[in-house]
Amino acid sequence: MINRDTIEEVKNRIDIVDVISDFITLKKSGQNYKALSPFSSEKTPSFYVVPNKGIFKDFSSGKGGDAFTFVMEHEKMTYVEAIRYLAKKYGVEIQEEKVSDEFQAQQSERESLYILMNFAKEFYKDKLIHSEEGQSIGLSYFRERGFTDRTIQKFELGYALDGWEHFSKEAIQKGYNKDLLEKTGLVVKRDDGSSYDRFRGRVIFPVHSLPGKVIAFGARMLGKDKNQPKYINSPETDIYHKSNVLYGLYQAKNAIRQFDNCYLVEGYTDVISMHQADVENVVASSGTALTEEQIKLIRRFTENVTVLFDGDAAGIKAALRGIDMILHGGLNVRVLLFPDNEDPDSFSRKVGTTEFQKYLKENTKDFVSFKADLFAKEAAGDPIKKAASIKEIVTSISLIPDPVKRSVYIQETSQLLKIAEPVLLTELNKILIQERKKQDKDKSTRAQEEMPMESGPVAEVEAPVRIDAQARVQFQEKECIRLLLNYSDVKLEDEALSVFLLNELNDVQFVDANYKKIFDDFLQAAENNQHIDSKFFIENGTTEIRQIVASLITVKREVSPHWADKHKIFISKDADELDKKALSNVRYFKYRLVQLWVEENKEKLKLTSDELEIDDLLDKQIALKSAEAALAEELGIVVGKY
Ligand code: UTP
Ligand code: MN
Repeated sequence: MINRDTIEEVKNRIDIVDVISDFITLKKSGQNYKALSPFSSEKTPSFYVVPNKGIFKDFSSGKGGDAFTFVMEHEKMTYVEAIRYLAKKYGVEIQEEKVSDEFQAQQSERESLYILMNFAKEFYKDKLIHSEEGQSIGLSYFRERGFTDRTIQKFELGYALDGWEHFSKEAIQKGYNKDLLEKTGLVVKRDDGSSYDRFRGRVIFPVHSLPGKVIAFGARMLGKDKNQPKYINSPETDIYHKSNVLYGLYQAKNAIRQFDNCYLVEGYTDVISMHQADVENVVASSGTALTEEQIKLIRRFTENVTVLFDGDAAGIKAALRGIDMILHGGLNVRVLLFPDNEDPDSFSRKVGTTEFQKYLKENTKDFVSFKADLFAKEAAGDPIKKAASIKEIVTSISLIPDPVKRSVYIQETSQLLKIAEPVLLTELNKILIQERKKQDKDKSTRAQEEMPMESGPVAEVEAPVRIDAQARVQFQEKECIRLLLNYSDVKLEDEALSVFLLNELNDVQFVDANYKKIFDDFLQAAENNQHIDSKFFIENGTTEIRQIVASLITVKREVSPHWADKHKIFISKDADELDKKALSNVRYFKYRLVQLWVEENKEKLKLTSDELEIDDLLDKQIALKSAEAALAEELGIVVGKY
């Protein structure tokens, strides 16, 4: 464990501009810096670095934080990896906290497992190229399958000679002990104490960890012996947990990030064939159903998964299961079916690179269309089947943790199946409520068993959305107060700025108590025909209010980095564009408020199972949504697009 002092020391030495400049080109802009967002493909810069606060903010993706956050986000590092990286950059010596002897022994044992696995990989690679058997059997097999030298290199493919002890003898001669050989699973112990090599007469596919260390092998047989499994794989070891690993991720990670999409296939050879067809953002779950851990792993690099399946019945069934898993994991899913009896490997070799890539592009469907098409055939003209297929699709949608995405898919389904949105929403909410009840029941059973409880996943994912919505309202509140404090008596076209704002917003409920207090004081003064300004609050306000007012009048150019950036122009323009600013503030204020109500309403929907209340809330939801759309139109915003 890295100790606290080290972390503090790194923090002290960090210069955020210097850290970020290692990855993107920053341009100075006043006291701050800006650049094109590295997290999206924008055309005008909305990525800001504020050196005196040590933070960055990316308005296009919403990401923001300190230098650690930046490195973690940009390089997909963990917190500890980011500390190590920055410590190295600034020459801070890392002090590890004293760890127990047991832990240390464990660490060094893992270390030796890695070393032996690496030795084995080199051994199998060498045999593939430099032994006669390797060349005539292994290498010629790979050639037959069309694997190039580059591919063989890239995936570090190898060959295990046919024989019981080729590997063990060599390893023992090199000084590796027998215990360790067994712990890696490379060698299997017999009951009588003797042992033999696990992989014999097979081609070898090393499995790499995320940083590229070999942690397991898959070994494919050659020829067709019905009595043998096609693949023999490494067993689970201290360094290999099958459910946490995706084959090919090490070779794919940059491409996945670059294309912001990850193809998911079934087997070793599918991954490799896709690379040969110049599609490198691909991983395999290696013959088992996808696990939650594997989904999290993908999520570190992209939120978009395209699952490739064989077009036969078994393939489709697997596709349906896979889709739901991935949706539940919070990723966006698209699906592509290959023609009957083809997998990515056979198909790419059959049609060639160009056609293959074209096929991928033209046949990928999002999961709603995929399911809709699938059931459309069955459901044509049969209302009962149609109802069942709607339920199928809505059930998948209900698994998506993000409510905003859920509503986008509901809209799409509504258009695709020509069914009114409220009907789908009702169905969706029924499912969500059932699910919630089930979870509550599970939870109470678990509580009885005195297990530590987690908060319900539904509430857990909802809250941040509402908090974001609140923050957006507060941002508008702040702007409203800023305008009042600085320009309350400036005359707009018809009336004073304060009269306009107070009239438009007098029945609005503020989120922030302090902004509310300031607004109410302005309102009160206006009703008494008095004039107040910032001085009034500096003299009469609470400490908090004095601070807020001070910051809004003195640092008015830094209300938003967008404006800070333009601050030279801002000073002269703020005054003569006040009418626009005030109008825009009023509109955005209302728009953000309605959005907040939408979120609050959604949360209420989640929490109730009372049918009458659900009806009410759904009506309200529809009304709010149309109000949101109307306000958005005034603002020239397209809603429902993401
Ligand atoms: P496939 O049979 O589709 O294998 O199994 P493949 O990789 O496409 O191989 P080729 O093209 O027939 O040579 C898919 C995956 O299931 C696992 C492997 O990870 C394989 O890549 N599997 C399959 C096993 O682990 N053991 C087996 O006996 C078969
Ligand atoms: Mn195959």
